[in-house]
Amino acid sequence: MTTPAEISVPKEAKNLPKEKFDELENFISSLETTKGALVQILHKAQHIFGYLPREVQLFIARRLGIPGAEVFGVVSFYSYFTTKPVGKHTISVCMGTACFVRKADNIIEGLKEKLGIEANETTKDGMFTLKDVRCIGACGLAPVVLVDEKVYGRVKEEEIDEIINEYRK
Ligand code: FES
Repeated sequence: MTTPAEISVPKEAKNLPKEKFDELENFISSLETTKGALVQILHKAQHIFGYLPREVQLFIARRLGIPGAEVFGVVSFYSYFTTKPVGKHTISVCMGTACFVRKADNIIEGLKEKLGIEANETTKDGMFTLKDVRCIGACGLAPVVLVDEKVYGRVKEEEIDEIINEYRK
């Protein structure tokens, strides 16, 4: 394993705050072992940076002395990890079977149009990230939209504006 002293913040990471790399470094140093701790470290990194840009993944790879490809592989395997900055609010539209048969696709299409983004993208003002997700276990309320932690059930297309505006205030 490479020692912390040998690890520098990647040059291309100039736009990311050094303090955040320091916080991540402190977390990694506090672990008894980094063996088998990659997922845990990635969780922490996403918590610190809000997402996992390539520079952060490279930093972790160098710090743990493992190939970057291994880190990229884990990040892309788990849908929880995101490599793009997320908005202030995350709008998740359930595309599970119960929601889908109740026209969740119309809801997500409506949201894409209103927000001017595709699923897994963030609006330019950094306000909203749109996601399509699997069943969230509230099928009785289908179709379901989640804004951050708040659940909206039996959502109709014509309610989309109202929901968005609640968060634009
Ligand atoms: S399918 Fe949407 S909550 Fe279950």
